[in-house]
Amino acid sequence: MRYADLHKQSITDPDGFWMAQAQAIDWVRAPSKALFDDKAPLYEWFRDGLVNTCWNALDRHVEAGRGDQVAVIHDSPVTNSITRLTFAEMRDQVAIFAGALAAKGVGKGDRVIIYMPMVPEALMAMLACGRLGAIHSVVFGGFAAHELAVRIDDAQPKCVIAGSCGIEPGRVVAYKPLLDGALAEATHKPEFCVILQREALAADLMTGRDHAWSDFIDGATPAECVPVEGTHPAYVLYTSGTTGQPKGVIRHTGGHLVALQWSMKNIYDVDPGDVFWAASDVGWVVGHSYICYAPLIAGNTTIVFEGKPVGTPDAGTFWRVISEHKVKSFFTAPTAFRAVKREDPKGEFVPEYDLSCLKTVYLAGERADTDTIIWAQEQLKVPVVDHWWQTETGWAIAANPMGYEPQPVKLGSPAVAMPGYDIKVLDEGGHPVPAGQLGAITLKLPLPPGTLPGLWNAEARFRKSYLEQFPGYYATGDAGYIDEDGYVYIMARTDDVINVAGHRLSTGAMEEVLAGHPDVAECAVIGVADELKGQLPMGFLCLNSGSDRDPKEVVAECVRRVRDQIGPVAAFKLALVVDRLPKTRSGKILRATMANIADGKSYKVPATIDDPVILEEIGEALTGLGYPKS
Ligand code: COA
Ligand code: AMP
Repeated sequence: MRYADLHKQSITDPDGFWMAQAQAIDWVRAPSKALFDDKAPLYEWFRDGLVNTCWNALDRHVEAGRGDQVAVIHDSPVTNSITRLTFAEMRDQVAIFAGALAAKGVGKGDRVIIYMPMVPEALMAMLACGRLGAIHSVVFGGFAAHELAVRIDDAQPKCVIAGSCGIEPGRVVAYKPLLDGALAEATHKPEFCVILQREALAADLMTGRDHAWSDFIDGATPAECVPVEGTHPAYVLYTSGTTGQPKGVIRHTGGHLVALQWSMKNIYDVDPGDVFWAASDVGWVVGHSYICYAPLIAGNTTIVFEGKPVGTPDAGTFWRVISEHKVKSFFTAPTAFRAVKREDPKGEFVPEYDLSCLKTVYLAGERADTDTIIWAQEQLKVPVVDHWWQTETGWAIAANPMGYEPQPVKLGSPAVAMPGYDIKVLDEGGHPVPAGQLGAITLKLPLPPGTLPGLWNAEARFRKSYLEQFPGYYATGDAGYIDEDGYVYIMARTDDVINVAGHRLSTGAMEEVLAGHPDVAECAVIGVADELKGQLPMGFLCLNSGSDRDPKEVVAECVRRVRDQIGPVAAFKLALVVDRLPKTRSGKILRATMANIADGKSYKVPATIDDPVILEEIGEALTGLGYPKS
């Protein structure tokens, strides 16, 4: 069947399509049907099936005779080590760790927070939760204590599993003091913590509460896989929304397994035994889906890379890893390639490695600029495929199905809708717009398996954020258009989310932190274009009237504050003090107009503006900071 027909079938007969795909998963009790629409617009997949994620990711491959195949390669230039674990070893270690968790009372439905660097134990912790039916919530290591505390209070975990430290180029990041700070701040108190003591920096443990990983598993009895319903949450992953309160995206077990399994061959073109590498972090959705779950579910070898595209030790690291481990499909963010390109524009590191194993490169996480795609294609001599998705969907909304039927490439587009995604571009009134016309990108309900069924503890917010603006459709928060051939083009966000080095951040959350500074009366944060990271946050601060503080000092304090409260990953380094902020007569801050001024783009003075002179003042202040960049 041609891909276009396959897609059509997935939309007209979702039940038949996904039941067929579900055959590739081992069920304890097979589902009677795929789609349950009795609670529409909330939909569920594989509700009456019984299944276990860990079984499908590990045990079944061992049972099928693939136990000796390498499942996980930890390649860590920052510790100068490479470790390989087979499916049998992973299964045994995960079973023991799960057994130790179960002995401490962790069971089906309990939440477990995981705050770990890029080590195999992070995957083991995730899979151990899956083995028990516990619901993990992984928090990215670059977030500060406050962000961790917010997630602890929302998820109410029974325990926290953390690393003693992360290793960033040039510095060791002590995770344990951040965890201790978060636990002191959080109202909810987890019963215990398990700390993976790393050689680079061991943590002080609190007797009674904290257990070293090695002691914790000592003498534990391996746990069996606990069957759970298809709609049992596998995990909750917090992502940035418009406010400081992150959204807890829920992932149901059955749909997650089925969709990820489908994606590995059909999108990423890998077969069991092939090596797949997603150079992301387990703290992000890409890390959940394509470092941990999908490759293991599909019987691939996955790479846990603890390093950076540049500086660990050089801009040839990616090529070294691909060549050394025989990577067939490689997934990264455009910003990572921009970093490599900046250091090695002519690709002088490339010929040092045999890259004949590499067949395709995939980019996601932010808009892929055509210069970067062309550069990568010229260097690597393989197709570089852009694909578009988000934390909420868990797998690609639009992509090029390279393992099914590669579609002609159109630069600038992440290609076509994946099965089950019925992409519609709507105008403000919710009417479909003609091909080529900009609008809000929406997905006609139901969303396919593997996508979010809701937000943790926040159904009203889920409905409000995603379902109410266009009844019958899921609002992606992205704006763009679809051309006459069905290719999607993602142009901008329609909300206050910005994308910094492929990391999704909330300007609203940063504004909340800045507004807490005692000298700041009012503030706004916008995203400004950045050659390397795509966007960078920039803060505008109005000080309390009569304040005699030195603006430079306040700016420095604000930069520190965002780093301390949100984390270094926010990369908040640009801020300026201004007298006033441009607003509409109803008091709405004109953030988009400010962003256009900072980026040197043309803009219309909104008819509703309170005082147009303020825009000139903002322009002058930006010039002082070197914006717009030429
Ligand atoms: N733990 C602690 N701190 C972390 C961290 C972690 N896991 N990850 C990042 N940080 C810190 C960094 O050390 C840096 O701190 P600094 O301000 O003291 O330098 C800050 O957070 C910003 O980090 P990063 O976004 O990695 O920027 P960078 O300037 O260090 O590196 C790139 C630039 C482009 C090389 C890097 O951003 C990168 O590799 N991006 C790809 C991202 C990616 O793969 N995203 C996938 C999402 S799908
Ligand atoms: P996250 O939830 O962190 O994965 O971020 C999702 C958002 O990143 C999307 O809603 C888009 O705004 C952006 N994004 C991800 N992939 C792409 C892509 N290929 N092209 C353009 N934007 C993208």
